[in-house]
Amino acid sequence: MNEFLNKLTAIVGPAHVQTNGDLTKFEEDWRKRAKGKALAVVSPGTTEEVSLVIKACLQERVSIVPQGGNTSMVVGSIPNNTGTQVLLSLQRMNKVRAIDAANLTMSVESGCVLQQVQQCAEKEGYLFPLSLGSQGSCTIGGNLSTNAGGTQVVRYGNARELCLGLEVVTATGEIWHGLTGLRKDNTGYDLKNLYIGSEGTLGIITAATLKLYPLPAAKLTAWASVKTIQQAVELLGLAHKMLGPALSGFEMMGQFALSLVNKHFPQMNVPLWRENPYCILLEASDNESESHAREQFEGLMQKAIESEIISDAVIAESLSQAKALWLIRENITMAQATEGLNIKHDISLPVSKIAAFVDETDSKITQKIQGAQIVNFGHLGDGNLHYNVQAPQGVDSKTFLQKYEHDINTLVYDNVIKYAGSISAEHGVGSLKVDTLKDYKDPTALALMRSIKKALDPHNIMNPGRVINEL
Ligand code: FAD
Ligand code: MLT
Ligand code: ZN
Repeated sequence: MNEFLNKLTAIVGPAHVQTNGDLTKFEEDWRKRAKGKALAVVSPGTTEEVSLVIKACLQERVSIVPQGGNTSMVVGSIPNNTGTQVLLSLQRMNKVRAIDAANLTMSVESGCVLQQVQQCAEKEGYLFPLSLGSQGSCTIGGNLSTNAGGTQVVRYGNARELCLGLEVVTATGEIWHGLTGLRKDNTGYDLKNLYIGSEGTLGIITAATLKLYPLPAAKLTAWASVKTIQQAVELLGLAHKMLGPALSGFEMMGQFALSLVNKHFPQMNVPLWRENPYCILLEASDNESESHAREQFEGLMQKAIESEIISDAVIAESLSQAKALWLIRENITMAQATEGLNIKHDISLPVSKIAAFVDETDSKITQKIQGAQIVNFGHLGDGNLHYNVQAPQGVDSKTFLQKYEHDINTLVYDNVIKYAGSISAEHGVGSLKVDTLKDYKDPTALALMRSIKKALDPHNIMNPGRVINEL
């Protein structure tokens, strides 16, 4: 093994192969659900170095776990505990390679932190719309490998829709130069979309060409309180009708989720959360003018009050007020993590079926476990719920998970399928859902996925055990 490590050291330099010291930040997942042990943490600085590292690993049949910001929600980016895997950190590959203003594109290396990309685009007068609560640490490579969603999908789409080209190091160490900025290119199979969402199981994304948009002339944000999920769905329908493409965010937050933010971040002053079971965070972006946007937005809120869809609402009067509202929404995850372990579900449903799904699933869970606390929030505009379950008050969260996680997952996922939904909307499969996927994914689709994996990674060295584990 020493010889192998020497080879890696010769490729990336001694400072960039770590085998000792505290490697927790690479080896433990964000949710603290698992901790692994890497043979080495290797941090290449260029695509050529990535290629040489993959070739060296392939030769020794050493498997590789790619990692960006290590913010995975599904234990996808840490090594297993055998001490035999190379943890490939892409964080040093963080250069913005080019901005093509006329083409409205930007080419960046995969280790660029999402916020860095957003800020760089904004400095040039453009918007890169992907927005997640983890944007201060997640990377573009991770975003594309998970096809991240976030809070602007209702208008701009998932990470997949925001990417035009990729540079990839394949599982055999070849470099695919697919860094195109073309909006039309029908020259065969869509390789880009195969790598996007593949969670590091097919190859390493080393760079991407991303779409840019004009910066909106105005942004309006409101926080509304509704009595039922059905009313939230009606508000969404009204917002689509009255705002059209200007609707850029539509987030739902259940009362218990907000109570956790109120408990752990009291300085955030959560508005209206005590009044009703749900709050909605709505955002509209307009390319015309502030006054046009405000008129349209206030018209929507007025109509929603008159038709008794919403009970109460506040409209942000400044950018800082809007930011404060978004911060509350983004901190639900952290508030939940501070509270303790919980059973997380990242599901999607047709919007038309969400209310029936929530009513039925809520009552099944509380019938099964008296006092179970449901932390329901998410991107309602995309039909995506983070439908999480927390232990009853006073019950130890670890014990609760050991006893109920499997049964609760089965209950929730069976209902998701009954209502024609997906068991993983935006976080991916990782290792946490790899066994569950087998029970819920179409068998023909799974067989095709296995064929693709075998064809592109014949020796199963790329993030084995993630997404699919029986080849
Ligand atoms: P990592 O966690 O490092 O890796 C994720 C997966 O991608 C792993 O399988 C890894 O092996 C693979 N990978 C990473 N980089 C590469 C690469 N260059 N090439 C090939 N494979 C690679 N997700 C959402 O979709 N929407 C949200 O709203 C959202 N909010 C979040 C809020 C918080 C507070 C947190 C902690 C997480 C949130 N997430 C969200 C989940 C997470 O941030 C995203 O999945 C993100 O895209 C992961 O990026 P990362 O750089 O941290 O990737
Ligand atoms: C979010 O929408 O906040 C994220 O996807 C993270 C989570 O599910 O907790
Ligand atoms: Zn989310």
